[in-house]
Amino acid sequence: MINTKVEEILNEQINKEFYSAYLYLAMSAHFDEIGLRGFCHWTKVQAREEVDHGMIIFDYLIARNGNINLKQIEAPQADFQDPLQIFEKIYEHEKSVTSSIECVAYMSEDECDMATRNFIDWYIAEQVEEEATVFEIIKKLQMFGSDKTILYHLDKELAQREYKQHKYA
Ligand code: FEO
Repeated sequence: MINTKVEEILNEQINKEFYSAYLYLAMSAHFDEIGLRGFCHWTKVQAREEVDHGMIIFDYLIARNGNINLKQIEAPQADFQDPLQIFEKIYEHEKSVTSSIECVAYMSEDECDMATRNFIDWYIAEQVEEEATVFEIIKKLQMFGSDKTILYHLDKELAQREYKQHKYA
């Protein structure tokens, strides 16, 4: 049986991951509207990964005989601007997710739940990768975003992203 405080923070993290999926889907719809099909694809793939992140915690809680306490998912904003501002927003969002993952790590250590402490390491590494990928796109948009030809090529590049399902165990 899992520690109740750890159980609660993991349930909150499930909610944050599903909110992330909603946010990326809202961005994907916006990119579709403005004709950036590669950006639309990239954010849609990211939304699927966020669902995986939530499901991995869901499956982990069940494996630990924990209670699932699903919470209401907040609606994401629907008014977006240019790709650079959207990716800056993504970067800020992912930094906040990193902080919440770190809180899970701290709490599991505090509560001597080493199984969860070990489990959450995958998320810590995933956040490093996500932040780095997003920052890389921001740098390109900062340098070339006003150049429509470069934006066209970046859109083609982002269209190449492949979805790989993440699973628990
Ligand atoms: Fe599940 Fe983007 O962190």
